[in-house]
Amino acid sequence: MEILKTKADMQAWSKNKKKQSRTLCFVPTMGYLHQGHVSLMEKGRPLCDELVLSIFVNPTQFGPNEDLSSYPSNIENDLLLAEKAGVTAVFLPHKKDMYPEHFQTEIKLQSLPRHLCGKFRPVHFAGVATVVTKLFNIVMPDMAVFGMKDYQQLQIIRQLVLDLDLDIRILAGEIIREKDGLAMSSRNAYLSEAQRASALSLSRSLDLARELVAKGEKSSALLRSKIEALIHSFPETEVEYISFCRPETLEEIEVIETKVLLALAVKVGKTRLIDNVLINPGR
Ligand code: PAF
Repeated sequence: MEILKTKADMQAWSKNKKKQSRTLCFVPTMGYLHQGHVSLMEKGRPLCDELVLSIFVNPTQFGPNEDLSSYPSNIENDLLLAEKAGVTAVFLPHKKDMYPEHFQTEIKLQSLPRHLCGKFRPVHFAGVATVVTKLFNIVMPDMAVFGMKDYQQLQIIRQLVLDLDLDIRILAGEIIREKDGLAMSSRNAYLSEAQRASALSLSRSLDLARELVAKGEKSSALLRSKIEALIHSFPETEVEYISFCRPETLEEIEVIETKVLLALAVKVGKTRLIDNVLINPGR
């Protein structure tokens, strides 16, 4: 497994592989890898000749009061997991190489970032879209894998690739959960034991909604109020949003008659957690 620390080295590596007609799959991450990331690497591994992982805590996707300075990191363990998952190159760029002085370009989508997390994290998706576009240009992959836990991010990347005519296939990786249902996230590391128990309110809400929709409930207002009550029955929780929306556009749905995305953001203590599920009322 090669470790490449500059854009120039990464690009040269990719160009060389392409010259040899090797296909490249890419998994971009911010590190502190867990089984969720491993599953993205495992999804990509058999599909291409080379598997590239990037680890870069992208400053432009964090707002001023967010957790950029405390974002967890364990590069040594990340490299072990990457090697085990069959990664052939790790791109570990430095902030100054990614954002040199006088950097001034931003990629902004129009409507997808206005929904869900974008309402509460106004700079987040422009930061994500910009860094992912840069990473695509540096790594030059044939395909890239993104996790469905960040569903809005996945939709934004799919749209970006379409709008900018990027010749990259985007694959979606399933949400990976702990045995008790908690969606895996690097931010789970911030939770105390008591908060870890309250964090289960998210996956329990998804189960509740699935059950009620299966029994015929169609009103998102009613479902939202039941979910809110469930979440707030767990200590230290504060709902940021509960949204029933169209899976493609993320626009809110009032009456659930077709496939819907239920997406949640909840603060548990100071930690902001997200989760989601696609619900098909026909099933
Ligand atoms: O999902 C993430 O870890 C990040 O948002 C990404 C895609 C690596 C961009 O910084």
